[in-house]
Amino acid sequence: MKFFLDTANIHEIRDAAEYGLIDGVTTNPSLISKEGGDFKEMLREITRIVNGPISAEVLSTEAAGMLEEAYDLAKIHKNIVIKIPMIKEGMKALKQLSADGIPTNVTLVFNCNQALVAAKLGASFVSPFVGRLDDISEVGMKLVEEIVQIYDNYEFDTQVLVASCRNPLHIREAALLGADVATMPYKVLEQLLRHPLTDIGLERFLKDWEKVKKQ
Ligand code: G3P
Repeated sequence: MKFFLDTANIHEIRDAAEYGLIDGVTTNPSLISKEGGDFKEMLREITRIVNGPISAEVLSTEAAGMLEEAYDLAKIHKNIVIKIPMIKEGMKALKQLSADGIPTNVTLVFNCNQALVAAKLGASFVSPFVGRLDDISEVGMKLVEEIVQIYDNYEFDTQVLVASCRNPLHIREAALLGADVATMPYKVLEQLLRHPLTDIGLERFLKDWEKVKKQ
């Protein structure tokens, strides 16, 4: 299972990369706008830190505009993955980018038929937003389960990238369901490492060792 970091914050990316746990990065317009600065320069910097897929989203809502942006972004680095919204015009652009061999991530996916369409058009990744479904009282992970099943049924190569992960349970469930990737905020990555019994256990070991040293 791959871990992507869902952020445009360079400090977080640099820090997380030191764990050696980061296989890629996902950004979106909201995350980019939180950081400020030049979008392309930010992406260039990320590609220097992480050697893996880096998702960058197009902003046009028409296929021609999306393609123009996509070709421009793809020039930045071979690891740039073009993030395309799951809308009709986006699917036209997706078909062309698949033919061009440019990696893509279809975003804002909220049902399995959308995921099926994206896979048929050759998407490299599909991003179901689990947290946002949970927010409206739908079980986000149910969608991941269905997409994994459908992709298995037809042996699609599209990777299931679980997005909008908000807590460690989302990562646990994504792993149990066999999702290919989970993208998570820095805070969730850190939460994966923690357990209170680990901290208590370590404290006790060190205290006991102090007694040995005194003997
Ligand atoms: O990966 C998509 C993510 O950035 C959206 O997360 O928490 O805004 O739903 P959230």
